[in-house]
Amino acid sequence: MKEKLELVRKEALAALAEVSASDALEALRVKYLGKKGELTAVLKQMGKLSAEERPVIGQLANEVRAKLEAAIESRAQQLANEAMAARLLSETVDVTIPGETRKLGSQHPMYQVLDELKDIFIGMGFEVVEDREVELAAYNFDRLNEKEGHPAREWTDTFYFTEDSSILLRTQTSPMQIHVMERQKPPIRMVAPGRVYRKDEVDATHSPMFHQVEGMVIDKGITMADLKGTLSEVARQLYGEDTVTRFRPHHFPFTEPSCEMDIQCYKCHGAGCPTCKGEGWIELLGAGMVHPTVLEGCGIDPDVYSGWAFGFGLERLALAYFKISDLRLIFENDVRFLEQF
Ligand code: PHE
Repeated sequence: MKEKLELVRKEALAALAEVSASDALEALRVKYLGKKGELTAVLKQMGKLSAEERPVIGQLANEVRAKLEAAIESRAQQLANEAMAARLLSETVDVTIPGETRKLGSQHPMYQVLDELKDIFIGMGFEVVEDREVELAAYNFDRLNEKEGHPAREWTDTFYFTEDSSILLRTQTSPMQIHVMERQKPPIRMVAPGRVYRKDEVDATHSPMFHQVEGMVIDKGITMADLKGTLSEVARQLYGEDTVTRFRPHHFPFTEPSCEMDIQCYKCHGAGCPTCKGEGWIELLGAGMVHPTVLEGCGIDPDVYSGWAFGFGLERLALAYFKISDLRLIFENDVRFLEQF
């Protein structure tokens, strides 16, 4: 029996050396150490031994069992280590390889200027409102005192939807004055940015779609001094403390008196240069005191309330702000251009 035990040990250890997978290892354990295993089979014959032989063989059998168990355990550990090593190798990440760069957009320069403007006006207690771009001629023209026959109402200048010229793409943000006065009682302080449309050919200074920002204040005791003070302060906050403004008389049907505001050229400070076309000044916006007829048309008593309004082209403002020379760059959305701001 002693030989038999030695044989089992030798065979098992030899087989163990060949094992290269954990399931095969388990099969091997069952084959030798399991209930119906070879070692157990040998031990079952212990009864046939003499009293002297029994403890000797018993001890040897225990040794063989212990030896095989230890060998299987260590082989299992070895296989687990090998598996881990292989996994680490297959899952290696080279952290020195440059990552995939993600293309990020950037905010459009015109909207940067708009955000800054909104901040300035909100800081002065104005509310930002936005509304429709398809308008009734009543709001875009009539109620703004732009009567039938006004040149801006020509089919050559305006995009109409209907033969009777009653529905159109708004040509200015001024109809927002009417919408806001219709739904809100004074005091009113609002700015309304948005797209407007005119039948213009595309060139360096024109586009059939562009943006305007409208503004309006209605309250008791509002005067031209409020208009000049507020708009000059906006110009200073936008272009810098030393910005000089001037107001020239002008005409708009919906304001009386009307004016245009210029800023002194930021390049030549009034001396005259190509940027201001030798003028020394750059025209910025149209404005004026809201016409009593317009107030009345919205149910606001012009003997109690007064107010002022302004409107300007946002692209033009952004061009001046960033010293860009061609309006088309604003619309082309070439990332190489937009990234610079
Ligand atoms: N809507 C005028 C324009 O498009 C600008 C303006 C707005 C003038 C408000 C006066 C008051 O030219």
